[in-house]
Amino acid sequence: MLELLVDTDTGSDDAVALLLAALNEDTELTAVTTVAGNVPVPLATRNALLTLELAGRGQVPVYQGCERPIVRPLHTATAVHGDDGMGDLGLPEPAGSARPGHAIDVLLDRARSRPGELTLVTLGPLTNLAAAVLRDRALLTRFRHVYCMIGAPDAVGNMSATAEFNAWADPEAAHVVAEAAAPELVTWIGWDVSRRDAVMTPDDQHALRELDTPLAKFTQRINRKVAEWAATVTGLDGYDLPDPVAMAGVLRPDLVIETEPAHVRVALGDEARGQTAPDRRLDAPAANVTLIRRVDGKGFKELLFDTLAKRVED
Ligand code: BDR
Ligand code: CA
Repeated sequence: MLELLVDTDTGSDDAVALLLAALNEDTELTAVTTVAGNVPVPLATRNALLTLELAGRGQVPVYQGCERPIVRPLHTATAVHGDDGMGDLGLPEPAGSARPGHAIDVLLDRARSRPGELTLVTLGPLTNLAAAVLRDRALLTRFRHVYCMIGAPDAVGNMSATAEFNAWADPEAAHVVAEAAAPELVTWIGWDVSRRDAVMTPDDQHALRELDTPLAKFTQRINRKVAEWAATVTGLDGYDLPDPVAMAGVLRPDLVIETEPAHVRVALGDEARGQTAPDRRLDAPAANVTLIRRVDGKGFKELLFDTLAKRVED
């Protein structure tokens, strides 16, 4: 049984990743921590609670975390995901609320109390994890593995010309994690993978509508702003789901078809802020992370559709 902790800036694709984790039979989602990113952290918490309740997993504890990046001001992605991060549908408020306690303490306490047992998946800026690493420099070794959806290894960005949002939003945090990482402990998956291997095409969206389950409708509706953005701003015929693709690689390692150990330094200067291009020189320093470069897009969509076909009892 995979025991997961998920750290998320819950916007619309994070929510779909939470559904995958919450409804996977071979996985126990032990807790969710939230961080500012796509939306301010109270909204990320609300969206995580709402999503878990919709999945019939309202008992999973949610802990709120950092309100802003370590150094920089908060810059949200509401232009992409909607003002509420969930497509501006006027969703109801969740029944539950965040548990007492800060996400940083939860990451520290849970990893220390179950060394080598828990798998951490981060879906937002690395602020919570970096702050925890600054308090315990060996923290990453206390997890079974840490997977981060972050970066643009080919330097094709979605936030700047060369940087991906989670790395760009809190580059100092990403830097702290990268410096403490080792390739057997930490895997990064960039947003490029979802765009290359797993775009939700118009046919996929049609199939999602045909599924006609509450979870399929929820997924299609909360991603409507992303779909608009992808079509109008980036010219993509469909929308991409970076966080669900990352989650699929964790839940189903057989879907990962190419990895690369790499030395990644996170650019901190203003010009290249958040760039995460690996050092591929012949004499590059030793790898600090494993990068996932390709996933089985067909297998990802099968997992997604199987999950969204589920009908959750009230
Ligand atoms: C990442 O940024 C956010 O907008 C998404 O939720 C995802 O985590 C993709 O660059
Ligand atoms: Ca995210």
